[in-house]
Amino acid sequence: MKIALMGCGTVGRGVFETVRELSAVLGARCGRDCVEIKYILDKRTFGEPALDALTVRDVGIIAGDPEIEVVVEAMGGTHPAFEFCMACLQNGKSVVTSNKQLVAEKAETLFETAKKHNVQFRFGASVCGGIPVLRTMFYSMAGNEITGFAGILNGTTNFILTKMIREQASFDGALKQAQAHGYAEADPSDDIEGRDTCRKTAILASIAFGTHTDPDGIHTEGITGITAADAAYIDGAGSRIKLLGIGEKQPDGRIYTIVAPAVVPAGRILADVEGVFNAVSLYGTKVGEIMLYGPGAGKDATASAVVADVLDCARTPGFDPVYSWETKQDGRLMPYQEKSLRLYVRGNAGDKAAALSDIREAFEDVTVLTRDNAPQNELAFITGKAPEKTLSLLLTQIRSFVPAVKIRCPEL
Ligand code: HSE
Repeated sequence: MKIALMGCGTVGRGVFETVRELSAVLGARCGRDCVEIKYILDKRTFGEPALDALTVRDVGIIAGDPEIEVVVEAMGGTHPAFEFCMACLQNGKSVVTSNKQLVAEKAETLFETAKKHNVQFRFGASVCGGIPVLRTMFYSMAGNEITGFAGILNGTTNFILTKMIREQASFDGALKQAQAHGYAEADPSDDIEGRDTCRKTAILASIAFGTHTDPDGIHTEGITGITAADAAYIDGAGSRIKLLGIGEKQPDGRIYTIVAPAVVPAGRILADVEGVFNAVSLYGTKVGEIMLYGPGAGKDATASAVVADVLDCARTPGFDPVYSWETKQDGRLMPYQEKSLRLYVRGNAGDKAAALSDIREAFEDVTVLTRDNAPQNELAFITGKAPEKTLSLLLTQIRSFVPAVKIRCPEL
């Protein structure tokens, strides 16, 4: 079987190497002699004969070649990846992508086009790299209603948080290491500001709840405001700070989604997920909680998921309606401030005893936290449980305390 590759950066190179190494084995797994890459679409010249011999500049060569059955898109970004994928689908090629931005923003049109031309559009590598999360949700949990998910969906930020907490690394130093490993996005602010996690959360929510979830509708916070002081307070309480993507169906049918740093209690597996690893808890009405764990970014892990999708396309080339969601966003998103939870709060007080008394009066069930070498007037605590907007309002009303940082403590 002949396939084409659009984009030969970190992921594309992983796919190229995997296909070259396992060509005959992959062929056997999809009933062919072998799997071969016939073209690589890329603007660059690589200075490597094996790559340069296959490189083309015009997507029309790929879309117009009847020998090509499956096209892998690993360019990243929405444009021109979207136009190139459309050209391939319209010419009867199945498309496999690792591009979460493309899927989060354009899946509806790509599904429609794949359906019209009776080919596959697959994106298993777009969430959690090598972990088979999407196929688990689409196929293995088909006997359930999925009621929620919570996950560490970005390897770069988890790597940075782990380095900061375990090795007292600086934020910038840890980010540079993540970039050197090939984990970070082309624009690493997509990782650290939470946008990458937001796109993945939108994809998970669309699958879990069956209708398109717009990433722009998901409240998103990154990890740039996390300090060593907060990590120390939360570590001292036996918990961990993790950047989570959460989706939950509420009893009234509305959907709660959020991307933000969260306090994960010790004892939850998510608390112990470190480095580039990702993990997702999926909640089904019949199966209960499933947890998937593995490498969430990196060349080979992502290529593993891409190549598995290529083989699926070869085995069953026609459009699979199960591997899609409804196109209409039906307005079920709940304002995130309505969610009841606890908050971790750190701030300053001129008179700590007076502030603590006011804090205890405002919030029921307060837990005061400690850390070594805290400045004299610093206070950190966890509130009782109430809607987030109530907690935020109460915080503004306490005159003896100036809050600096809030981190949510979701019930997982
Ligand atoms: N930048 C992403 C991450 C790559 O760090 O998770 C995988 O999607």
